[in-house]
Amino acid sequence: MQASDLATFWLEPVLSLRDRLVASPRFRAWAASNPLTRPIARRQARSLFDVTAGFVYSQVLAACVRLQLFDVLAAGPQAVPDLARRLGLSEEATVRLMRAAGSLKLVSRRSRGRWGLGPLGAAMIGNPGIAAMVEHHALLYADLKEPLALLREEPGERQLQNYWSYARSETPSSLPAERVGAYTQLMGTSQAMISQEILAAYPLDRHRQILDVGGGDGSFLTAVAERAPHLRLTLFDLPPVAARAQQRFADKGLGERALAIGGDFLRDPLPRGADLISLVRIVHDHPDDAVMTLFRAARVALPPDGRLLIAEPMSAAPASEPATDAYFGFYLMAMGRGRPRSVPEIRTMLRRAGFARTRVVPSPTPVLARVLVAVPDHSNV
Ligand SMILES: C[S@@+](CC[C@H](N)C(=O)[O-])C[C@H]1O[C@@H](n2cnc3c(N)ncnc32)[C@H](O)[C@@H]1O
Repeated sequence: MQASDLATFWLEPVLSLRDRLVASPRFRAWAASNPLTRPIARRQARSLFDVTAGFVYSQVLAACVRLQLFDVLAAGPQAVPDLARRLGLSEEATVRLMRAAGSLKLVSRRSRGRWGLGPLGAAMIGNPGIAAMVEHHALLYADLKEPLALLREEPGERQLQNYWSYARSETPSSLPAERVGAYTQLMGTSQAMISQEILAAYPLDRHRQILDVGGGDGSFLTAVAERAPHLRLTLFDLPPVAARAQQRFADKGLGERALAIGGDFLRDPLPRGADLISLVRIVHDHPDDAVMTLFRAARVALPPDGRLLIAEPMSAAPASEPATDAYFGFYLMAMGRGRPRSVPEIRTMLRRAGFARTRVVPSPTPVLARVLVAVPDHSNV
């Protein structure tokens, strides 16, 4: 029995009692009227309402993003008539949107009836990756309309499966450029948040060469190049994606230092020579057998002093974060491939693939990405 199982085992009678009490309307009415339990009752009612209404909150954000409201307010607080004109809405609709977005801390009420950025709206300025994610959620929103159809794996047209073209392809390396363009752009736009996490967590000084497997348009390696000017850079991705990365390297003046190689990481051997292999937002995209293939290929390609770095949102079982287990769990189900894994799950798979030790490197915002570094066991070769 794992330590987490043991804790829930001993708590079982307490949890059962709690469930019986909370399920009773009489107890709930008592808890809401008792001054001692009222704050807890209110908090629980609010949490339940938030879960119930979450899809509406997301659509309020979608409306703000589509109207580019945060960019408009970045210039300074505005009165409703001016805002209404800029947004192309009636004044009544503008007030409705501002109040909704204000309740979600996206915007905030200012003096003289004006509206300005809220703390969450301000955090979206200069971070185009969040707006791009919100925009593409239109596809996820459509797919989630029938959650049971997804859970039961009923056949049907899924928008995200079409978008992430490699998810359902038997031969992803033959996908044409037009089928990889949209997701590659989205990944490139949202990469800045992730590379900041990784570069803040893991020092690159001890390495000579990095191979970024599934490296997309090269945004991560471009950030790496700036941080570690001594590193040689190699990227491996599907051929049309690698071609975009090579173009990016040329545009950034990295042509001499950086090479992008096209191929299928589940069929082709990984290029050798790097003493650091990175898998950034890759592992959760794939089922266990594919991940084992990838880990084994990385283990074969690494020298004895090499390291494998895995960075992605990871399931935080047992007290899991909704950001991974609810969001990514259902996102990847709609995409039709992969699942978020916990650190112990990834660790077990790494051990089976021939990695001796693994270490979680603390990262500033684990909800964006946790960083795991593994050392190959070369006594096992
Ligand atoms: C979720 S994206 C992550 C991209 C990048 N690492 C990032 O974080 O921005 C997954 C990447 O894996 C690539 N990929 C998927 N299946 C692949 C395969 N079988 N062989 C090579 N690359 C693959 C995709 O083209 C895509 O660039």
